[in-house]
Amino acid sequence: MSAEQLLPRATVLRNFSAGPAILPASVLQRAAEAIHELRLDGHAASAPGVGLSLLEISHRSAAYDAVTKGAEELCHQVLQIPRTHQVLFLQGGASHQFAMVPYNLRRDDRPAAYIDTGVWSDKAIAESRVLGPTEVIASSGPRHDHIPALPAAGTYAGASYLHITTNNTIFGTEWAEIPDAGDTPLVIDCSSHIGSRPLDFERVALGYAGAQKNLGPSGVTLVFIRKDLLSQRPVGPVPTILRYATHAKEPSLYNTPNTFGVLVLKLVLEWMRDLGGLEELARRNQRKADRLYQLLDHSALYRAHARPGSRSSMNVTFTLDGAPEADRDALTKRFLKQAEAAGFDGLKGHRLVGGCRASIYNAFPEEGVDELCAFMSAFERSL
Ligand SMILES: Cc1ncc(COP(=O)(O)O)c(C=O)c1O
Repeated sequence: MSAEQLLPRATVLRNFSAGPAILPASVLQRAAEAIHELRLDGHAASAPGVGLSLLEISHRSAAYDAVTKGAEELCHQVLQIPRTHQVLFLQGGASHQFAMVPYNLRRDDRPAAYIDTGVWSDKAIAESRVLGPTEVIASSGPRHDHIPALPAAGTYAGASYLHITTNNTIFGTEWAEIPDAGDTPLVIDCSSHIGSRPLDFERVALGYAGAQKNLGPSGVTLVFIRKDLLSQRPVGPVPTILRYATHAKEPSLYNTPNTFGVLVLKLVLEWMRDLGGLEELARRNQRKADRLYQLLDHSALYRAHARPGSRSSMNVTFTLDGAPEADRDALTKRFLKQAEAAGFDGLKGHRLVGGCRASIYNAFPEEGVDELCAFMSAFERSL
């Protein structure tokens, strides 16, 4: 039985939500089935059931153990997280990591170095400042329409760690590649593009991502940390639950995990694997993003917010700034209203920056981008 048959839905043609975001239909179906009854052996319909809903079983049961260990293994295989790193499934969202990182990784009296690329890095910087000296060594502000060049190594060489946000969900900018920070531990918030293409995690000391974009539902955060950092002594006292070492000791089972979130994450990783993995997803994502940016760059009405070379392939931000200034706000409202009426959901830009944003994560289909491009061209022609 398909998820649609289980629960018929109102019609939304295309979901551009920045997160929680679109999930593959086959994953929704398998998750719905697991809520009915958890099955062993990859959750295939023919696999033996455990007689209980996923939501009803203990996180200490053998059945859940297979779920969490399977998900962990797929993070290495599919997301290409090196075996030198411990994978953890935590809670509290990526925002929780803004605090956990400085709690655990500050060393002596060395400052923490951050690169500011917008709202989410600002929040991470603010948490670091609560705990100790923090230096912002580069910024893309105030427009946050580009990724700044990595400053000379001397500016962060003595730092406890260097933190960057590798995809900026709100402004639509993305690091083209993970930078080489030398001996300084590199920490990345890769919430909104993990899984979209191969990323060089060998260069990363600690990475984190809220799952609710490319990996699953909200409420589970993927963290991967180089194992040698788990034995590093924190500078001050750290509450037990905030220590990475606590969660690594009994992997992701210190307290009751988000069992449902971990299962869905596992199902998403299986879907990614079966599709051809990161290389195939990268090709699809590139085609989708190229189509949209090409339309934006050739339009007299639309303007891409992010500069070429810094553009996100996951969050395409744009305005209607080609219109006379006096008309822009009204025209943007009209555009969004007509888009919604046509079945395009979630195109409104983040409340802090306005404009529009098309989030086109892994599960967003290529034909949906074609439909949006056709709609945008027709809207422009109608003026
Ligand atoms: C890049 C980035 N970092 C952090 C966050 C905060 O995530 P959470 O709401 O899971 O704490 C978000 C949320 O969208 C994000 O896009």
